Amino acid sequence: MKILIAGIDGYIGTVMGQVLQERGHDVAGLDTGFYREGWLYNGVTKLPPIIVKDTRNVTVDDLNGYDAVIHLADLSNDPISNRNEKNTYAINHGGTVHLATLAKQAGVKRFLYSSSCSVYGIAKEDLTTEESEVNPQTAYAKCKVLAEQDIQKLADDNFSPTFLRNATVYGPSPRMRFDLVVNNLCGHAWVNHEIRMTSDGTPWRPLVHILDVCEAFACVLGAPKDSIHNEVFNVGNSTSNYRIKDIAEIIKTVFAGCTVTFGKLDGDTRSYRVSFEKIQDKLPGFTSKRTVEDGAKELKQLFERIKLSRELFEFRAFTRLTELDYLVKTNQLDEQFFWRKYE
Ligand SMILES: NC(=O)c1ccc[n+]([C@@H]2O[C@H](COP(=O)([O-])OP(=O)(O)OC[C@H]3O[C@@H](n4cnc5c(N)ncnc54)[C@H](O)[C@@H]3O)[C@@H](O)[C@H]2O)c1
Repeated sequence: MKILIAGIDGYIGTVMGQVLQERGHDVAGLDTGFYREGWLYNGVTKLPPIIVKDTRNVTVDDLNGYDAVIHLADLSNDPISNRNEKNTYAINHGGTVHLATLAKQAGVKRFLYSSSCSVYGIAKEDLTTEESEVNPQTAYAKCKVLAEQDIQKLADDNFSPTFLRNATVYGPSPRMRFDLVVNNLCGHAWVNHEIRMTSDGTPWRPLVHILDVCEAFACVLGAPKDSIHNEVFNVGNSTSNYRIKDIAEIIKTVFAGCTVTFGKLDGDTRSYRVSFEKIQDKLPGFTSKRTVEDGAKELKQLFERIKLSRELFEFRAFTRLTELDYLVKTNQLDEQFFWRKYE
């Protein structure tokens, strides 16, 4: 298939571009390149061609000729959205719906949207399923819900959107993110030999390996239309629900000599478990047994190989909010997060 990945230059996109090419797809990318300064290691064999463009400025011509568009190009976490609410709505809701609308106009048959389990927010049920009521708490999560709702309305005989609600992702990517919980704790375990939790670690969090996310998207691309048309899938596997303190204990065993300390139950009392039964049962070809332990071992091997230093671990481009702040402060991005032009 001929596939365009919007957000190909990010943490998930960099790995997904490789995985889909290895499976024989003809892949191209579109990305504005916010985090291009952050490249942790060389993990890429063939770079797909990339259009450097903002989703808000995409035209039908950019999307002509593709069988599928995968959309990963959002501002990618709650802290960014809390500090930049207007830009989050403009990009994550406005830009996303614009991209989907033009993809449909261009005759693209499948649109895969990278949504998030954060749409469940403070869950009202013990185990949330795709049928559960959403309860988004932040602008980031609210935009995911709004975008899903608006894109669902575009579905018709010729346009099949699919909504993949990823758990929080972990595992190595050249375009690394150290602001994701497992990656962050592994980095601390390596650099400081210590994981200091400010909370008591009891809340539940759903987690998923980066290769399982890529696997899920690949399966949606290959699935018969009736199994993915306008469907929502929580993306994870049967091992995906962890308590934060269990994550820390797993990392402690992988990074020998690392200590873990806990605080009190703090203000963030969000705790939720998510059901991943639908994706296992209903998405043809999707299987996965990857665990946080697997991911932590891979990260440790990587840190050993590249001799990860404290300086590199703390480099701004590996923390999304810090990099955006830096780009605005240094007059590279304007207040709407468009690149400034210089004569
Ligand atoms: N990583 C996770 O744990 C996780 C979990 C659930 C959902 N998601 C979603 O998956 C997607 C990808 O996540 P990620 O971790 O790779 O994030 P990321 O921040 O590493 O990558 C996002 C990419 O999109 C690009 N981008 C952002 N705004 C853009 C715009 N307006 N125009 C063009 N390009 C733009 C950025 O330059 C970046 O390369 C996001 O939509 C995110 O919300 C991620």
